[in-house]
Amino acid sequence: MAILPIRLYPDPVLLTEAREVTDINGELQRFIDNMAATMYHAPGLGLAANQVGDLRRVIVFDVAQRDGSPELKVMLNPRIVACEGEIIHNEGCLSLPDCSAEVRRHRKICVAGFDREGKPMEIEAEDLLAVVLQHEIDHLNGKLFIDRLSRLKRMLFIKKLKKQAAAK
Ligand code: NI
Repeated sequence: MAILPIRLYPDPVLLTEAREVTDINGELQRFIDNMAATMYHAPGLGLAANQVGDLRRVIVFDVAQRDGSPELKVMLNPRIVACEGEIIHNEGCLSLPDCSAEVRRHRKICVAGFDREGKPMEIEAEDLLAVVLQHEIDHLNGKLFIDRLSRLKRMLFIKKLKKQAAAK
């Protein structure tokens, strides 16, 4: 397993919509293992393939690791099929270092997709898990959490991130 470099804003791959996974093969399985290793190493609660420079619709996530009992979840081609309620949660992102903001999202969602073997799966998620899933699915659509903020707040973050990038 390898730790993959995490792409940082304004890398264009973060702003690009990912494509459906169609080939389930050994290379994909190795890639998923590397994504998981990268997420745990960061550490983060979730990771989308764009964040490591790959435009396939793959996400890995694990909110159970917070209680010290990691339980890796993998989803291919995830899509939200139902949602209700509203939650405001303070979000950060591995691709936007040192930024966090309150983001408004659905409190409860149902996500349909496929497991790493290509078997159809569905997840009913609420609260933190629902937030993480919406955040990662946004990544696959080339969207970042700052895109869900007011224009003014977004501009402030973009300014800060550009400054950070220039300082490197
Ligand atoms: Ni993120």
